[in-house]
Amino acid sequence: MSPGLLLPLLLLLLLAIALPLTPATMQPVPALPVVQEDDVRCLRGVKRHFRDPNARLSSWTFANTSAGAICDFSGVSCWHPQESRVIALELSGYGLHGALPSHLKYCWATTTLDLSNNSLEGPIPPALCDWLPYLVTLDLSGNRLSN
Ligand SMILES: *[C@@H]1O[C@H](CO)[C@@H](O)[C@H](O)[C@H]1NC(C)=O
Ligand SMILES: *[C@@H]1O[C@H](CO)[C@@H](O)[C@H](O)[C@H]1NC(C)=O
Repeated sequence: MSPGLLLPLLLLLLLAIALPLTPATMQPVPALPVVQEDDVRCLRGVKRHFRDPNARLSSWTFANTSAGAICDFSGVSCWHPQESRVIALELSGYGLHGALPSHLKYCWATTTLDLSNNSLEGPIPPALCDWLPYLVTLDLSGNRLSN
């Protein structure tokens, strides 16, 4: 076979392999992150982005890097005490200021998010329920959030 024919044939072969894997109708499957560091990243983002004039998040030091250390943080509950996997984030009446940080998406396994009665403002991210697919309880009341 001449080299001139080989390249087009190779391209056809590649196309034939690639096409069935990516039909236009197939939705991309969201890859669920499995790294426990995610929840640490979530809480770091929350701590960094909220203004906390009453220092209610002072226990959130991140000094202890052991698995499960974040479970002792004020307002944080975990699926299992030795696993850094948040099941509930309950910061009602903490006097927090700021917008909802996108870092919340790294707390993707949480079932409860209660940020009621704070001074949060800005839009409620439309993707919030995509970020937190296991969410059962959501309370954002008593803030100045907009749609
Ligand atoms: C760090 O966190 C782990 C898990 O919660 C706990 O068992 C350990 O006592 C903590 N260490 C310190 C120095 O606080
Ligand atoms: C809201 O939180 C403030 C403290 O930040 C507290 O004084 C007040 O009683 C709370 N209100 C409700 C309805 O929980």
